[in-house]
Amino acid sequence: MSTADTEIKIGKRICKNRITMAPTVKFNAGEDGIVTDFFVKHYELRAKHGVGFICVEATAVAPEGRLAPSQIGLWNDEQIEGHRRLVDACHAFGTIIVPQIHFGGLSTHPKCGRLTSPTSVKWNLFGNEVDAHELTFAEIKEIEGRFIDAAVRAQKAGYDGVQLHGCHSYLINDFASAVNKRTDEYGGSTENRARFGCNIISGIRKACGDDFIISVRTTGCDPTVEESLGIAECYVKAGCDYLQVSTGIQDIDFIEHDDSLPYNKIAALGVKFHDHFKGIVPVSLVNGIRTPEQVHYVLENDLIDTVDLACGLLADPAFSEAILNGTPYEKCYSCKTCGWGPDHAHICPALAKRGDEEWVW
Ligand SMILES: Cc1cc2nc3c(=O)[nH]c(=O)nc-3n(C[C@H](O)[C@H](O)[C@H](O)COP(=O)(O)O)c2cc1C
Repeated sequence: MSTADTEIKIGKRICKNRITMAPTVKFNAGEDGIVTDFFVKHYELRAKHGVGFICVEATAVAPEGRLAPSQIGLWNDEQIEGHRRLVDACHAFGTIIVPQIHFGGLSTHPKCGRLTSPTSVKWNLFGNEVDAHELTFAEIKEIEGRFIDAAVRAQKAGYDGVQLHGCHSYLINDFASAVNKRTDEYGGSTENRARFGCNIISGIRKACGDDFIISVRTTGCDPTVEESLGIAECYVKAGCDYLQVSTGIQDIDFIEHDDSLPYNKIAALGVKFHDHFKGIVPVSLVNGIRTPEQVHYVLENDLIDTVDLACGLLADPAFSEAILNGTPYEKCYSCKTCGWGPDHAHICPALAKRGDEEWVW
């Protein structure tokens, strides 16, 4: 049986506990995509309070693939130094840290670049129907290279690895999903739809070596759970050593779930993946985990290897201490204030109530 404070091997590294911080964009960078003091303090605070593994928010591999003009990046060498400060601040607390490297695809912000897709498709963007550009073979190769270059910069900044953003309708997810109707080597079979992600994984492995963690935040049900397991198997074969399971493009209404369980149907996808990949790679679940009791339940019943927390840790940076030591915490109100997006102010009421001096969000 594992408990929240049990160590776990991820890739070739040892993570001190089972609590992981899920990526959450802060919409706080300038057009240069440089990590500022704000980001350093934001992540340092979560590391200080005991999170074992931090996945830094979606980090653009190319400016034309950003999900917002205020997103941080790793698309040029000038961006390395800010990341290095962030990494050093978190390493001081023994936390493993990786950035989530990302290219927008069907969820590119129109102020940053055009919508791109494996296949030409009409896509609803902020209520408007937009024609997404079908990537040419040469453009696909160029973007694969951008991911690998970003991972090399991440390694130069001192990160322990990277996470590929392979869900939520961004480009790696677009390739794996039913949107992809290509007839070349990037479309058709499961292996072909996984090829874009796999080429990125094997390229990073070659460039960054065996002890660099490659995690994929992959979709659990796009278009079906079985298909998603097949895609994830390809990623693992290509060299991925950690799967963090979320959702994709596909609506999740069709998934049946026993509502008496203390975790929701998205977290349940992680449980299914854990069952499938047991003994092969560690698996993390995410979504709706708001109490220490939920974390203890999924770990102590051997339903998952690690638990990703997003809003719980935005609402209270010390939520991890509540899980590890039973200390009091401010519970996320699930009000979605934090998720309003790049054009809104984000004052998390739970964090404001806590009134912490180190309040940075
Ligand atoms: C403000 C905000 C920003 C987010 N940014 C990202 C992101 O950069 N990358 C990503 O994969 N998911 C992102 N997500 C999704 C979260 O990682 C997580 O999957 C979701 O919030 C559900 O987990 P929770 O119930 O613990 O909050 C974001 C969510 C929120 C609320």
